[in-house]
Amino acid sequence: MHALGLLSTLLAAAATVVAAPAKRYVPPGFVTTNGETFELDGRPFNYVGTNSYWLPLLLTEYDVDLTFQNLVQSGYKVLRTWGFNALNESEVAGALESGLTYYQVWNGPNYTVNYGPQGLERLDNIVSKAEQYGIKLIVTFTNNWVGYGGSDLYVQWMAPANSPHDTFYTDPTIIAAYQEYVNIIVQRYKSSPAIFSWELINEARCASDSLPASATCAPATLTTWYQQQSDYVRSLDPYHMINAGGEGQFDWTTPEYYWYDGQYVPDYNYDGGAGESFDAVVALPNIDFGGYHMYPETWYPQFFTYANWSYETWGANWIQQHATAAHAVGKPIIIEEFGSPENANKTAWYPTWVETAVNTKHAGIMPWQFGQLGLTEDGGYRTIKYTDQIFRGASPNDSYTFYSNETALWSLFTTTAALYNSMDW
Ligand SMILES: *[C@@H]1O[C@H](CO)[C@@H](O)[C@H](O)[C@H]1NC(C)=O
Ligand SMILES: *[C@@H]1O[C@H](CO)[C@@H](O)[C@H](O)[C@H]1NC(C)=O
Ligand SMILES: *[C@@H]1O[C@H](CO)[C@@H](O)[C@H](O)[C@H]1NC(C)=O
Ligand SMILES: *[C@@H]1O[C@H](CO)[C@@H](O)[C@H](O)[C@H]1NC(C)=O
Ligand SMILES: *[C@@H]1O[C@H](CO)[C@@H](O)[C@H](O)[C@H]1NC(C)=O
Ligand SMILES: *[C@@H]1O[C@H](CO)[C@@H](O)[C@H](O)[C@H]1NC(C)=O
Repeated sequence: MHALGLLSTLLAAAATVVAAPAKRYVPPGFVTTNGETFELDGRPFNYVGTNSYWLPLLLTEYDVDLTFQNLVQSGYKVLRTWGFNALNESEVAGALESGLTYYQVWNGPNYTVNYGPQGLERLDNIVSKAEQYGIKLIVTFTNNWVGYGGSDLYVQWMAPANSPHDTFYTDPTIIAAYQEYVNIIVQRYKSSPAIFSWELINEARCASDSLPASATCAPATLTTWYQQQSDYVRSLDPYHMINAGGEGQFDWTTPEYYWYDGQYVPDYNYDGGAGESFDAVVALPNIDFGGYHMYPETWYPQFFTYANWSYETWGANWIQQHATAAHAVGKPIIIEEFGSPENANKTAWYPTWVETAVNTKHAGIMPWQFGQLGLTEDGGYRTIKYTDQIFRGASPNDSYTFYSNETALWSLFTTTAALYNSMDW
């Protein structure tokens, strides 16, 4: 069905013959790579994990414990969460009133760091609970998007007015400020075995949701930035793994095509149009494994009007292609976020996507996102930020969230987790 995609995959595989990275010594309790798999204390550590950006925002110990207990009981071993939450000074009064977690405050040409009880003490608590429950964390340093205060705050406060989004990747003052924040987070937790991996940024692209791209931004811009930042983090922390955090777009000389506005055109997920070259990033010496995201309905809203292939098969192909690309450089691959906004579609498609990930030896499978029921917080109605709410004791439902009472979906992941936890790789 995807003759073009298959051909590109075969060509990419044939062109790249790279020795697997050497194994790195790590202290006891630290996860590391062993070829295309993860390892903990000499034993395989391939996993089913999940995402929860909201966990460090909870207000009560009871709710945090409840969530960790549910993760453990469900067999999830890795949780990805945000190591950033940034506000403008103008938002701080509201944050103090609602109890909102925030780590950075912007009100001039530099940010200040909130080390207090509504600041990094909340992240300290999550890291220490993760140690207690044996859950490993992927911690992300900033966001491509506006949500929870991302890279655009650096651009809006540190660069001249009307600077494009990709100024974040090239401006030396901004890079120094980002590295200062990274340094603060890494120094704080570098001795913790609860850190699975550092993650440089969530979903880097040339453009964001609030600022446009410059005319010159290209995959080389982001690859250079990824190399510089992964080398920097490695200089601070020789042991923990480092992950890029991108969506995983390819920059192929022969991209796949898709239907857009009635025309059959090169697909921006395959022609470098978003700013990422997955093949180049996964090959960087201090990027330890490949990670990518998958939201076919969001990425191809017109898909069903014109396409002659389905979201379900498109997803299976995307999963396969990333396994091929990461394994070509001898590194593990994880599907770090994926989702469908409609529960009927989740139930219909996730089994195929999970099965494809298992069959292509994914070392990590992480749906977006984990849902927790029975939270006690503030009567259950506190607005965290933007449109996310804890409603009737359910953690924020961004429509991708699924909960333990959605039993078919829930058991797909608990069953796969049990399989992974028992597999001898
Ligand atoms: C889908 O449509 C494209 C463009 O018309 C065509 O090249 C391709 O062969 C079609 N694929 C299938 C499976 O029909
Ligand atoms: C934060 O402040 C910057 C600089 O004034 C502004 O561009 C941006 O829109 C503000 N963001 C929010 C979420 O208020
Ligand atoms: C910016 O703020 C960070 C965090 O408070 C600090 O470490 C750094 O030295 C500051 N940089 C400058 C240029 O003032
Ligand atoms: C669910 O998938 C179907 C195609 O199978 C599509 O028509 C529908 O729009 C999807 N629902 C949503 C909310 O995207
Ligand atoms: C979460 O949102 C999805 C999509 O709107 C919906 O199908 C589901 O019932 C919601 N779950 C809860 C617990 O509210
Ligand atoms: C799951 O529980 C939530 C919160 O009580 C509720 O809103 C939702 O309707 C339930 N979903 C199912 C499928 O029972």
